[in-house]
Amino acid sequence: METLDALHARKSWRAYSEKPLGDELLKTVVAFANKAPNAGEFTVTVVRNAELLAEINAATLVAMKNSGNDFLISRAALAGYQPLYGAPALALFSAEPTGYYQISAATAASTVAIAATDQGLRSCFIITPTLAIDGKNALSRKLALPEGHVVVCCLLLGYGEAENRFSAPRPEVDNIRFL
Ligand SMILES: Cc1cc2nc3c(=O)[nH]c(=O)nc-3n(C[C@H](O)[C@H](O)[C@H](O)COP(=O)(O)O)c2cc1C
Repeated sequence: METLDALHARKSWRAYSEKPLGDELLKTVVAFANKAPNAGEFTVTVVRNAELLAEINAATLVAMKNSGNDFLISRAALAGYQPLYGAPALALFSAEPTGYYQISAATAASTVAIAATDQGLRSCFIITPTLAIDGKNALSRKLALPEGHVVVCCLLLGYGEAENRFSAPRPEVDNIRFL
C-alpha cells in the first residue's frame, strides 16, 4: 500500500476476525515501533495468549464499569461491547514514567498502526487496559513488565471483520493553521 493510502485507510477497528495472524507478520509490523520519533526507552509487550487476552479483556470491562467516567461506563454498557474487540494481539507500550515517556510510547504505537494498515491488518489504539493494569495487581505481575514500567497505551492488531462496530464516522475538523 502507498503511504498516503495507508494513512487514509487506518481506522480504529473494533471487530476482529478469526483469521490467524502469523508470527512473522506480527513481528514485522511491531518492529516499526523502533522507527518512530523517540525521546526515551520503552518496551512493547505483545500479548497473544488467548487466556491472558481474555483476562485483560474481562478486567478492563470491570474497570471501565467502575471508572466513574460517564463515557467509559456508557461504552461498557453497550450490547456486546468487549474492550479488546476480539483482537488476537494486544501490544502494550510501557516505559518508566519520566521525561517524554508518554509521547515516545504514543508515537511508537501510531507508527505500528500505520505499518499494520500497510500490511492489510486492522488496529485500534486503546487506553482502557491501563485501568486494569496498575503495575501492582496480579494481572500486572502476569505481564512481567520491566521493573518500574507503566503501560502508557496499547494497540490491538489483527485481521478485521468486514464491518466495523462501535465506531462513528470521524467528524471533519478545521484545526490546521498556516502562518
Ligand atoms: C489517547 C487515546 C486513547 C484511546 N482509547 C481508546 C480506547 O480505549 N478504546 C477505543 O475503542 N478507542 C480508543 N481510542 C481511539 C479513538 O476513539 C479514535 O482514534 C478516534 O475516535 C478517531 O477515530 P479513528 O482512529 O477511527 O480515526 C483512543 C485514542 C487515543 C488517541
